Amino acid sequence: MSGPGRPDAGGQGRPAPRGRTKGAAQRLVVAISGASGPIYGIRLLQALNQAGVEVHLILSPWAEKTIAIETSWSVADVKALAQRVYAADNMAAAVSSGSFRHDGMVIAPCSMRTLAAIAHGLSDNLIARAADVTLKERRPLILVPRETPFNLIHLENMVRLHHAGAVIMPPVPSFYHRPQTIDDLLDHFTGRILDLLGIDNTLVGRWTEPIRRRGRRGEEETEC
Ligand SMILES: Cc1cc2nc3c(=O)[nH]c(=O)nc-3n(C[C@H](O)[C@H](O)[C@H](O)COP(=O)(O)O)c2cc1C
Repeated sequence: MSGPGRPDAGGQGRPAPRGRTKGAAQRLVVAISGASGPIYGIRLLQALNQAGVEVHLILSPWAEKTIAIETSWSVADVKALAQRVYAADNMAAAVSSGSFRHDGMVIAPCSMRTLAAIAHGLSDNLIARAADVTLKERRPLILVPRETPFNLIHLENMVRLHHAGAVIMPPVPSFYHRPQTIDDLLDHFTGRILDLLGIDNTLVGRWTEPIRRRGRRGEEETEC
């Protein structure tokens, strides 16, 4: 994934759709925590922009560090992909309350610290609080936990959250769509998140659709 893609994307000026909960998600809370792979969250933000979804974004302090360490993005450019951005220590932000209506929340990537905080109801920062609220309001909560291997604590926290209603979606790549680049892997995974939220997309190489691939000798083949 190269650096910032659409300088005009997002920002505070772009009008966003308003409807709630009927059909596809139109207003989402997105959080990036300090696990490896903030590019998953960034790619998701780009896709939501393209889909016209209103995004309310929270970055943890360690997410800001991993963005700097692992990507060519500036934190300011990532923030410009959202309509609203909240500081992770702002417990008075709108997304801290169940009365703020939205269509779901995605944490991508989700660190083991944030996973544990949500699993144990700590609400110790705005990400954990907004996720707690999302669960209590019975809205979709999609977590992209990034660690490997998992220890028993990680696994038990994931099971707790599954039982509480969250979707646990680790960024495990699939290969049936014949990815050629890291962008292909990111796009497919991002598209699967959009699928869960009912957002139409062409990012997913679908199993029943023709797949263009290279044969052993380099010639192009088309297969189902
Ligand atoms: C470059 C880098 C990569 C990291 N990768 C992971 C990771 O993949 N998973 C994880 O749980 N923590 C990872 N960490 C550690 C978290 O950043 C740390 O636990 C932090 O307290 C998480 O805070 P947060 O959940 O509030 O973002 C990483 C830290 C750095 C600096």
